[in-house]
Amino acid sequence: MSPSLSLQHGSDAPRLPDVRVEANLSMVIFGGTGDLTRRKLLPAIYALSLEQRMPETFRIVAFGRRDYTQESFREEMTEEIRRFRREEGSEEHLQDFVSRIDYFKGELDKSESFVELEASLSNPDVYPQNRVFYLSTAPSFFEPITKELKKAKLTYKIGDPSWSRVVIEKPFGHDLESALKLNQDILRTLDESQVYRIDHYLGKETVQNILSFRFANTIFEPVFNNRFVDHIQVTASETVGMESGRGGYFDRAGALRDMMQNHLTQLLCLVTMEPPSNFSSDAVRNEKVKVLQSIRIPTIDEVRQNTVRAQYVAGQVDGENTPAYVNEDRVPGDSRTETFAAAKFFIDNWRWSGVPIFLRTGKRMATKQTSITVQFKQPPMQLFQTVQCENDICDLTESRPNLLTFRIQPDEGISLHFATKRPSMHMVVEDSSLDFGYRENYRKTLPEAYERLLMDVMRGDSTLFTRSDEVEAAWRVMDPILKAWQQRDRRIPLHFYSPGTWGPLASDELFDGHAGLWRNEDSLA
Ligand code: BG6
Repeated sequence: MSPSLSLQHGSDAPRLPDVRVEANLSMVIFGGTGDLTRRKLLPAIYALSLEQRMPETFRIVAFGRRDYTQESFREEMTEEIRRFRREEGSEEHLQDFVSRIDYFKGELDKSESFVELEASLSNPDVYPQNRVFYLSTAPSFFEPITKELKKAKLTYKIGDPSWSRVVIEKPFGHDLESALKLNQDILRTLDESQVYRIDHYLGKETVQNILSFRFANTIFEPVFNNRFVDHIQVTASETVGMESGRGGYFDRAGALRDMMQNHLTQLLCLVTMEPPSNFSSDAVRNEKVKVLQSIRIPTIDEVRQNTVRAQYVAGQVDGENTPAYVNEDRVPGDSRTETFAAAKFFIDNWRWSGVPIFLRTGKRMATKQTSITVQFKQPPMQLFQTVQCENDICDLTESRPNLLTFRIQPDEGISLHFATKRPSMHMVVEDSSLDFGYRENYRKTLPEAYERLLMDVMRGDSTLFTRSDEVEAAWRVMDPILKAWQQRDRRIPLHFYSPGTWGPLASDELFDGHAGLWRNEDSLA
């Protein structure tokens, strides 16, 4: 994942060696005028340049259809970077950065555009010959672009003096069949080691910390199994709806494809996978694939019992009226797309057999929260009564199990709940917790996911990117759910929920038979 570390002993404290991209390179962004380029990609590369992590010589080519001159494009991007990086860095640095961006007007479906692109990029005096191609386009262009790249000789073969890498944004496929086909098509023109399928959750610092937490400590791993764990739950709730015209894309995707098939499944993998034998990209990804392949593929009956889908209705969030999903911009009035999805899965392997894993995600929910909670089993017998007190006034309450929570975002941290004796003449216990917070422990702001991931692409480290077999294994689990939902089976109803809530009540029923409930923001710390 990262280079082997040799601490440099300087005059003061030991310092970690700087991580930077050594090889000069050119990065071509297809979808160069799009939202992702403005909001995430250019600001992330700019941040890397401020931290002096970019190579000596680099150029960025934004490939788009719109009419811009070099000047007008650079001016617009200067404003975007100021907007998203809040005036960080000097004006001189910003101007130098923007002068390295070129606009290239072309059509994604015209071979001539790629031939022209090749003619420009092959000038080594202007463009370093190592190449990153970032596909930030509609998914229907992923395959044609990779084909055109090869045809125009923009990509290299493994072993050539220069290298080329292709980064592919999500969604990677629409279902199992299309994902298989996309992998097949892409791997016809590129080697797997040249393909970087992005899941930006893997770039989040707190997501990477799941593995460090599990495998750099000895005290938790012995209890991470079906003898001690009652269940695991993963939530990724959002307050946003279909702002900035996202409805068009989202309505074709739905919450299951948009969040659960990728981000939530990745979180599930990290919290349940076996330790890799080392941190090479293949060792880590092999373990992820193994656990993905052990997730029980739901039958139609299991889809009926173990999944819930829902859509938000009109309501109010923070005193503001918000439209029903079906009245959002670019969403058809009769849409049945789910904006909320929850499901219970089982991993049929030695470690996790019988432990339910609950995943839930939704738009326009009560708060933005991404978290994973591991709930442990209760002791074999209850020796003590549990109380919940306010000052000296205590009520008897149900005993609370041990909980380990990874708060991925916001308020990033980890908490562990356990019972302690309440000081008094009574032998009663109450819930206490140990809490680790990133903000209190590290003064630095956490790096943006895209900074980390772009760095890794440029340095050729694919550990945090999803391999073809990983994507396929995730689709194999989700595909039967999608198929069953499409059938308009009355036994799998589309529920409705009010904005600003935690989704439909039906999702609580997934816990039937398990001592649990969804852990919402106020119960995490
Ligand atoms: C994207 C989804 O992949 O992740 C969006 O397409 C979602 O619908 C976003 O809003 C959430 O990302 P984050 O980093 O804000 O949790």
